Amino acid sequence: MEDNYELRDFGHAGSDEIQDALEHSQIVYFSHSPVELPSAEELELLRSGLPQSLRAKNISYHPESDSVPRFDAPEELKSRVEGILRQHGQRVEHYLREVLPAFVPDWILGTTSFRSMEEQGRDLKPRSSNERVHIDAGAYGATNGARILRFFVNVHPQRERVWGTKGSFNDVMQNYTELWTAAHKGKDRVRLEKTLADRFFSGAVSTLSKAYPIAQVIDSSPYDRAMRRIHNRMKESEAFRSNDSDYREIHFPPMSAWMVFTDGISHSVLTGQYAFVTTALVPLQNCRIPELAPYNVLETHHQT
Ligand SMILES: [Fe+2]
Repeated sequence: MEDNYELRDFGHAGSDEIQDALEHSQIVYFSHSPVELPSAEELELLRSGLPQSLRAKNISYHPESDSVPRFDAPEELKSRVEGILRQHGQRVEHYLREVLPAFVPDWILGTTSFRSMEEQGRDLKPRSSNERVHIDAGAYGATNGARILRFFVNVHPQRERVWGTKGSFNDVMQNYTELWTAAHKGKDRVRLEKTLADRFFSGAVSTLSKAYPIAQVIDSSPYDRAMRRIHNRMKESEAFRSNDSDYREIHFPPMSAWMVFTDGISHSVLTGQYAFVTTALVPLQNCRIPELAPYNVLETHHQT
């Protein structure tokens, strides 16, 4: 069976409605971006004004260092691109602060990326391939249970961005026992407490990242490792991949925007080119329905 996920336009929705929809793993979709976009000229620069060597990469602006690392281009171009991504990230931040104030305390604002590649046929290794259905795990170092909120804009002027999904985190965990096998790793429950070694490691990373903010991406936690095992199993398991009874496609039109907890809904990116993605980590204690969050779903599960 294959049908399409029906997108609901949240353009006129209130804050509570949007927050609840996100926590219930729905896609909060906007036919018109609620965030002002870069100018037509700036978008064109990102789509076709970059040197060939840079077009094959995602370009990510890191707010903690206020820069786009590993961006090898003439100074003027570099500072223009940085400026466009910085401004877009700030506009998304402003919007999120306004519409989702409950999520803001102690949140971490992550990167703003421009995805410049055509997603279809990138021929990546299974664990890296976005064309395989997965949940996001360990974004930006350790989340320690925080939710991964992502705000997307399809800035291709003519083409849709197409995702696939097999439902929410809770749906896939219910429907595929092998994902629990991966999460449990032979134990009778999923271990989420940090060990002494974990705490020591996180402490060292935290110290290091005072001098080198980028160092935080190497941090880890038992929760993030369990999510990574589930992520990997989804991408690698033939049984998971070949069952398409619960599979649906999601079509995002040109210039539309959407946000979602990407740890809470399974997704793959099938086709599409040119998109902005801004990430924020939302502490679990800011959620209104924390029992729906992957951390609590994992914590309360015992192998029978
Ligand atoms: Fe993903």
